[in-house]
Amino acid sequence: MKNSRILITGCGGMLGSSVYPVFSQTGAQVLATDIDLNEPWLEHLDIRDINACEKVFDQFHPSIVLHLAALTDLEYCENNQDASWKTNALGTENIALMVKKYDCTMCHISTAGVYDGQQDAYTDFDPPNPLSHYAKSKYHGEIFVQHFLEKYYIFRAGWMMGGGPKKDKKFINKIYKQIAAGATELFIVEDKLGNPTYTRNFAESILQVLPTKYYGLYNQVCTGSGSRYDVAVEFVRLLGLSDKIRVTKVDSDYFKKEYFAPRPYSEKLINFKLNARGINHMRDWQDCLAEYSQLFVEDYNAKI
Ligand SMILES: NC(=O)c1ccc[n+]([C@@H]2O[C@H](COP(=O)([O-])OP(=O)(O)OC[C@H]3O[C@@H](n4cnc5c(N)ncnc54)[C@H](OP(=O)(O)O)[C@@H]3O)[C@@H](O)[C@H]2O)c1
Repeated sequence: MKNSRILITGCGGMLGSSVYPVFSQTGAQVLATDIDLNEPWLEHLDIRDINACEKVFDQFHPSIVLHLAALTDLEYCENNQDASWKTNALGTENIALMVKKYDCTMCHISTAGVYDGQQDAYTDFDPPNPLSHYAKSKYHGEIFVQHFLEKYYIFRAGWMMGGGPKKDKKFINKIYKQIAAGATELFIVEDKLGNPTYTRNFAESILQVLPTKYYGLYNQVCTGSGSRYDVAVEFVRLLGLSDKIRVTKVDSDYFKKEYFAPRPYSEKLINFKLNARGINHMRDWQDCLAEYSQLFVEDYNAKI
């Protein structure tokens, strides 16, 4: 890894906030890029622009590409379908084309959301049936990478937790913002199941799996699963606020106007291949949430 040249796309987001420090510590030369230059160490690369991609590959000559860039807001993708397909599908094709041309290894990040949620849990071998435009466009990216490249990894993540109060766009920060604003009751769905996936653990695991050269597609989520309600109850407990904040179960219909993109009932993944090959480095989600919630405890204490 020390002699590698690592290009990261979409590194200004939640996962990038963990991938960048984890891979920078290896001594490899890292070029971190995004369209949103929210850190001084980021350089601009829009994956929709194949000429811009070619220029970066030609100048940097990466040996490994960690492809994180995506539009990740499901409702935005549903309302802006062209944008979703241009970024998540075509943008991934652009990166894969460059990976082949410049003979590097691609590490593509995909999602547990590629399934329709009809069965309880999914191994790496279960056939996807994506429901939303986000999931469909992400699945197209997977298919292209699988058919076009030999030296690739695809890691499917679950419900991402990472980036802290500043960068986390997803569930943990959505409920934290309500808590920080003084909410004493949270309404949380109990009819959506999945595996929280801690970005730090996810990034560290990629770092360990990459050198094996056991290429292919992997489910890679934290161990254990639960409903959104289970995660919210645990998070409130970790904040030390169980006595002050009531967590009330609702079903998804409660949020049908706000979260109108179709979502699977179950996104629970089993890390079947990582386990079978003895390379499952993913930790228990409750342990990961305990570690991650410290960032929110600090933020909360600074506010009150
Ligand atoms: N978040 C989850 O729960 C989750 C779950 C499973 C899998 N994933 C996958 O994990 C990967 C990382 O996602 P994340 O959680 O870190 O989401 P994120 O915080 O939204 O990060 C994605 C980054 O990509 C950037 N981006 C968007 N369009 C781009 C473009 N055309 N060119 C270059 N960069 C672009 C985004 O910028 P803007 O902020 O300006 O859009 C953002 O900084 C994605 O592939 C995602 O599909 C995420």
